[in-house]
Amino acid sequence: MNKTIIVSNRLPLQIKIDNNQLQVKPSVGGLATGLKTIHQEGNSLWIGWSGLTEEELNSDLSKQVKALIKKEKCDTVSLTQNDLENFYYGFSNRTLWPLFHYFMEYTEFENTYWDSYKAVNQKFADAVLEHVEDGDTVWVHDYQLLLVPKLIKDKKPNTTVGFFLHIPYPSYEIFRTFPWREELLHGILGADLIGFHTYDYQRHFLSSVKRILRLDVNFNEITYDDRVVKVDSFPMGIDYNKFHQSALKQKKEEKSELQKRLDDHIQSSKDARMILSIDRMDYTKGIPNRIRAFEYFLNKYPEYKEKVRLIMLAVPSRSNVPQYQLLKRETDELVGRVNGQFSTVSWTPIWYFYRSMPFENLIDLYTSSHIAMITPVRDGMNLVAKEYVATRTEQDGVLILSEMAGASKEMNEAMLINPNNFEQIADTLKQALEMPLKEQRSRMEILQKRLKRYTVEKWAEEFMKSLFATKNLGAVIIAK
Ligand code: ADP
Ligand code: G6P
Repeated sequence: MNKTIIVSNRLPLQIKIDNNQLQVKPSVGGLATGLKTIHQEGNSLWIGWSGLTEEELNSDLSKQVKALIKKEKCDTVSLTQNDLENFYYGFSNRTLWPLFHYFMEYTEFENTYWDSYKAVNQKFADAVLEHVEDGDTVWVHDYQLLLVPKLIKDKKPNTTVGFFLHIPYPSYEIFRTFPWREELLHGILGADLIGFHTYDYQRHFLSSVKRILRLDVNFNEITYDDRVVKVDSFPMGIDYNKFHQSALKQKKEEKSELQKRLDDHIQSSKDARMILSIDRMDYTKGIPNRIRAFEYFLNKYPEYKEKVRLIMLAVPSRSNVPQYQLLKRETDELVGRVNGQFSTVSWTPIWYFYRSMPFENLIDLYTSSHIAMITPVRDGMNLVAKEYVATRTEQDGVLILSEMAGASKEMNEAMLINPNNFEQIADTLKQALEMPLKEQRSRMEILQKRLKRYTVEKWAEEFMKSLFATKNLGAVIIAK
């Protein structure tokens, strides 16, 4: 039976060794949470990095690790400490991530990083080539592996290869600054189908292909090396039922400690309201902007003091990269400043958690919050916005969402804001707090309908359908 090989830098599970004991956690981030559902259901093998370095993998626990990974239908690519520094923290997260999110000032162009990126992409391609059989499909994911499609296609031209980018694709004016731009584009064009979250990212990619490689682009098809390469947008959905059903179920079960504390606040006064944000601690997520806008709101509308609380969950991420350390410091300071300025004996305006939380607690946070305030300055999609909507089983609640998140393109019924406009955010927050239930429900109903229809399963299905159609189209053209 033919299989699909999913390839991404991170596997859906992350392993750590602590005190000679294995610790296993689910990976955080849109890619892992989204694809997990597809992987669990289909005949697939997932190839990626386990979170352990090659040095750690060679320990006494290696047998246990391998068994664990195999049980999850995965295989691991082992990265050395040097790969981690130069490929992962280096080229992936100090070059591509900032550049593709329009943070030019954070972008480092380093030859050592680039050499490591090429070598590690080759490692991933080799791991795929070891497993791929005739008739299999390979689906490569995200910015860490942009060269892998070509490396596979060069060795196995008949293999069907799809590629999906989970982050924004920047405009030509940004992308053209990249020193290895031709190699990167050729790498991606090894795929038969290239997918993006939004039409804008797709448009930017096609523009780079036309202007840098001077290739002919016919609407959204590129003829390349006697093949047809198709480029299209597929906005990623969520496992709607999982979130909705968990929210329903948890309401009937015994309350967690966190839920009890959240209830205490809600019951403290009839006007008490909770505003939620959940992100990885990343400078693209607009965390300082959000705190500043909240501070601005409390100054502009003091009648809300002692009534509203911002609950901010920030999950540690890429903490070896200096910009992430600076962001953590800035966030700590801002939270301290706002809490110091406004707190009373019975009220703290911001509850800030810098940690990962179990799934059940995420659901508690989603279901207890009257408002979700999601303000990235740039975000490929943002699944948290969709998860919040899916858990609103009474169809109440308001989603405030940045225009800079890919998700805003499909969520017009949210209250869309510019994350740099504090005046607008403060006024929108007030409007959201005062929105009549009827309006909340009518907005939520439309949002939920759309998310229920275009789930993550549907997203994968549409991508695969289009991938096979493109491959067959290519075969017809070549035969002519
Ligand atoms: P990104 O991919 O940039 O991290 P997204 O909003 O698209 O941003 O995806 C974040 C994903 O990580 C969501 O699916 C969310 O549920 C998950 N997540 C966020 N915080 C946690 C956490 N503390 N524990 C587990 N999963 C989390
Ligand atoms: C985003 C990226 C993913 C990445 C995730 C977590 O969702 O698109 O590719 O896995 O962030 O980041 P990390 O660096 O921890 O893998």
